[in-house]
Amino acid sequence: MFSTRRVRIFDTTLRDGEQAPGIDLTIDQKVRIARQLQRLGVDTIEAGFPASSEGEFIATKKIIEEVGDSVEVTGLARANKNDIDKGIEAGLSSIHVFIATSDVHLKYKLKMTREQVIDRIYESVRYAKSHGLIVEYSPEDATRTEEEFLLQAVKTAVEAGADRINIPDTVGVMHPFKFQEVIRKVVSVASGRIISVHCHNDFGLATANSIAGVVGGARQVHVTVNGIGERAGNASLEEVVMALKKLLDYEVGVKPWLLYDTSKLVSELTGVPVPFFKAVVGDNAFGHEAGIHVHGVIENPLTYEPMSPEEVGNFRRLALGKHSGIHGLRKILEDQGIYLDDEKLKVVLSEVKKMADTGHRVSAEDAKRIASRFLSS
Ligand code: KIV
Ligand code: ZN
Repeated sequence: MFSTRRVRIFDTTLRDGEQAPGIDLTIDQKVRIARQLQRLGVDTIEAGFPASSEGEFIATKKIIEEVGDSVEVTGLARANKNDIDKGIEAGLSSIHVFIATSDVHLKYKLKMTREQVIDRIYESVRYAKSHGLIVEYSPEDATRTEEEFLLQAVKTAVEAGADRINIPDTVGVMHPFKFQEVIRKVVSVASGRIISVHCHNDFGLATANSIAGVVGGARQVHVTVNGIGERAGNASLEEVVMALKKLLDYEVGVKPWLLYDTSKLVSELTGVPVPFFKAVVGDNAFGHEAGIHVHGVIENPLTYEPMSPEEVGNFRRLALGKHSGIHGLRKILEDQGIYLDDEKLKVVLSEVKKMADTGHRVSAEDAKRIASRFLSS
C-alpha cells in the first residue's frame, strides 16, 4: 500500500528528454540510460514513443527486456488503436496515452470538436485497459484548457478505467500558486486515482510547479535527468527529488547518491553539458571561493551547504580567487601535502590574489607552485 507521503518518480528522459532538438540517442545508448535509471530507483521509465520510428520501437522492446522485470516501463501513444497496438507489440504492459484538450490544439492541430476528443479519450483508454495495460492518460496542454472541459476529460478517463491521470503544463505557463489549485480540483474529481504532474520550464518554474502540484495532491512527478526536453526543458529529476525529500519530507524511491553519476552519464550520451551552476549536480553546486564561506564550510559544511555533496554523489570544490581567505588556501595546500605557517600563507595568498586580479583562474596547482618557493626556506 502506498504511503500518503510517497511520491512516484516517472522519468521521461528517454521520451520527452530525447524530443529536444539535437538529441538522438542510439538504441544502445537508450538501454544504458534505462539501466542507470533502474539502478537509480525511479518508479517508471518512459522508454520512448514506439509508434514514432522503427528505432524507438526496438529501443522500447530492448529496454523492457533489460529492465522490465524490476521497474515499470511505459511508452507514449496517441489516443488511437494503432499507437496502442504498437506499444503492445513492443511488449509494454503500461502505456501513456495522450490527446490534447485545449481549444488552440483542438482547432489548429487536431481539427476536432470537444465531443470528438471526449469520445477518443474514452475509447482509447478503454481499448488499452481491455488489453490489461496499466494506463496513464494525459490531457495535453491541460493548463491552457478551459477548466470545466479539463475536469470532464479527467472524469472521462477515470470512467474508462485509467489508472493514473497526468496533468501536463505543456508550454510551461503555470506558476506554483495557480498550479496547486488546478491540481486540487483535478484530485477532487479523480476518484482516488494517482494524479501526476508534467511541467515544462519555459519560465524557469518547472521544479517549483512540480512541487506545488505535489502539495496540491499529486503523487507522481514527470521529470528528466538534467531537465532536458522540449524548448527550456522539463522539470529536472535531481531538483525535484531533492526538494521533495529535503524541503518537504516526502518519500521518494530514488537513491540520491546516484544522482551525480546519472547526470554525468546522460550529459555524456546526449552531448548536452550540465550547466556549471545547475542545482544539485552542477560542478559549482558545492563550490566555494569567498574566504568567509570557505572558512565556514571548513569548520562545518552546514554553514553554507543545504545538503551534503556526498548525499547526491557530487563533490565539494574549494576554489581560489580574489575573494579567497587564508583558511581555504591552507586547506587546498594541505590537501596537496604542503604545510606553511600563517606568515608564509599570507604571502602566498597575496600572490594568488594578484594572479586572480589579472583574470587568471587560479588552480590548486598554481597555489602549490607559488607555495613551493617557501618549502626549503
Ligand atoms: O508536454 C506534454 O504535454 C507532453 C505530453 C505528451 C504528456 O509531453
Ligand atoms: Zn512534455
